This record gives sequence, C-alpha cells and structure tokens, in this order.
Amino acid sequence: MALQPLSRQHHFGLLFSWKLRKGFERNISIKRLQAFRDWFFVTEIRPHFEAEERFLFPLLESEHPLVQRALADHRTLETLFTTTTDVERTLRVLELQLKEHIRFEERVLFNKIQEVATPEELEKIEQVHANEPTSAYYVDPFWE
Ligand SMILES: [Fe+2]
Ligand SMILES: [Fe+2]
Repeated sequence: MALQPLSRQHHFGLLFSWKLRKGFERNISIKRLQAFRDWFFVTEIRPHFEAEERFLFPLLESEHPLVQRALADHRTLETLFTTTTDVERTLRVLELQLKEHIRFEERVLFNKIQEVATPEELEKIEQVHANEPTSAYYVDPFWE
C-alpha cells in the first residue's frame, strides 16, 4: 500500500496520545509532558504535516472538502502542539484531537485519495517517504 509510510507515522501519533494518557494517569508533571509534546511536534508532527500538505493533499483539488477539513485540523493541532498557556487542558484536548485527525485520515481521506490518484502518483509518494526516519528515541520515557 503506497500510503504505508504515512500510516506508520500515524501509528506513532496514536502512540503519542497513549503516552500522554499514561502520563496523566501517573501524575507526571505538566512540565515533563509539555517537553515531550514540544519534542514530538518538531521531530514527528511538523515534518509529517508538511509531507502530507506538499505531496498528498494536492492529489485532490485544493477546495475539496476533505482537504479543507484536513488543513483545518492541521492548523488546530499546530496550535495545540505549541500553546504555552493553560498547558494541562491543552494537552488533554490535543490527546483526543490528534487521535481523531489520524482516524479521519486513515478511514476517510486516504481511502478517497487512493480512489482518485493514479498508480504513478501513489508510487511517487511512497518514494518521497521511503528514507524518512520514524519514531526517534526520546530521552525521558515517563510512560514506561
Ligand atoms: Fe494530517
Ligand atoms: Fe497524517
């Protein structure tokens, strides 16, 4: 499946949400959770969003409602990943909204794109992502 590299990154996104939930359960300090959020944004999420917006979404028309929804999600999530006020509440919202966004892409948007894109277009996406690192090591595994 051509979109597998992106799907693999989605798996790490879902894992991120799970780790945040673990952090809350274990009463890990908000400061530590925020540091993890900041790291994950720069390491995984920002490059992932950029890749989707540059190579994947253009396979549908830019006015397509599914693309519009995905772009709106990205902007909301970027805010949740970078806000420095009311961080505890932000992290709880982020945990849920990231999961929801990933499910939307996996179940709705990716299916649509695979329906309309040509095999050549899909293959090109696979090549773009073939060499990207995934799931880098984090120095403070508070969820373990
Ligand atoms: Fe996305
Ligand atoms: Fe995504």
